[in-house]
Amino acid sequence: MPPDAVPNRDRPAGSTTLDGRVSLVTGAGRGIGRACALALARAGSDVIAVARTSTELDQLESEGEGRIRGWREDVTADGFFARVEALERLDILLNNAGMNRPLPIQDVDTATLDRMLQLNVRSVYRTSQAAVRVFLRNDRGGCIVHMSSQMGHVGAAGRTVYCLTKHAVEGLTKAMAVELAPRRIRVNSVAPTFIETPMTQPMFEDPAFRQSVLESIPLGRLGQVEDVVGAVMYLVSPAASLVTGHSLRVDGGWTAR
Ligand SMILES: NC(=O)c1ccc[n+]([C@@H]2O[C@H](COP(=O)([O-])OP(=O)(O)OC[C@H]3O[C@@H](n4cnc5c(N)ncnc54)[C@H](OP(=O)(O)O)[C@@H]3O)[C@@H](O)[C@H]2O)c1
Repeated sequence: MPPDAVPNRDRPAGSTTLDGRVSLVTGAGRGIGRACALALARAGSDVIAVARTSTELDQLESEGEGRIRGWREDVTADGFFARVEALERLDILLNNAGMNRPLPIQDVDTATLDRMLQLNVRSVYRTSQAAVRVFLRNDRGGCIVHMSSQMGHVGAAGRTVYCLTKHAVEGLTKAMAVELAPRRIRVNSVAPTFIETPMTQPMFEDPAFRQSVLESIPLGRLGQVEDVVGAVMYLVSPAASLVTGHSLRVDGGWTAR
């Protein structure tokens, strides 16, 4: 039986060792993906870190204690999906790459709509599909975490496209979880509130926006990448061996209102 399918009582409580596992993290060059790639490596996993900016991957590799290998790829490209599918071994996929371009609906141009659907939805689907083919070929089970958002659960002004894409990710999470459970493949999502990363940095340059976000988070602070890392590491660990189809909200209470 693969490690993911072992009931938790057979492992040390809170065990997070990922020794011998192979993980793939998309969007690992900076922000949330970078922090998760480092955490997976620290937990013992070999990590394939995917992004387009070479300098950021070089830096990440240098901090990965020999466990992180960069793939300089565009995660929307067919060549990337083929490369994933050709992997001999894969245990964990973190589908993290994503983007946001906040705009009122009347100003969303077709290019923005298509780019966001391409990256936030189509790439997540095709990368998952490629990973599942590896999991099934090896018949060892597997674990997928999609990086969703609190915007996968609620709506917000200026975020029609982002909410559309993250709600799609939540639907995909549930459908994949149900379909793949018999093959011992777990699929979950993490739904963070606003996290301080290069993606949100320009948004927080507007003090009024920053204040409005803080007022919407009952716990009263912005998220840090470490908050998201904790959720991801739980979901990929043996401690979560009975958890699938779940969306773990790391939102300081935003969606509880
Ligand atoms: N930050 C937040 O407040 C927040 C909240 C909720 C959910 N999220 C979600 O969390 C995920 C990560 O967000 P973040 O804030 O960490 O983003 P970020 O700081 O903008 O980093 C995004 C990463 O994805 C990579 N990437 C983007 N497009 C790519 C492509 N086509 N091919 C390969 N790599 C690509 C970027 O590298 P290159 O540009 O070099 O390729 C970068 O490494 C996203 O899915 C986002 O929607 C973020």
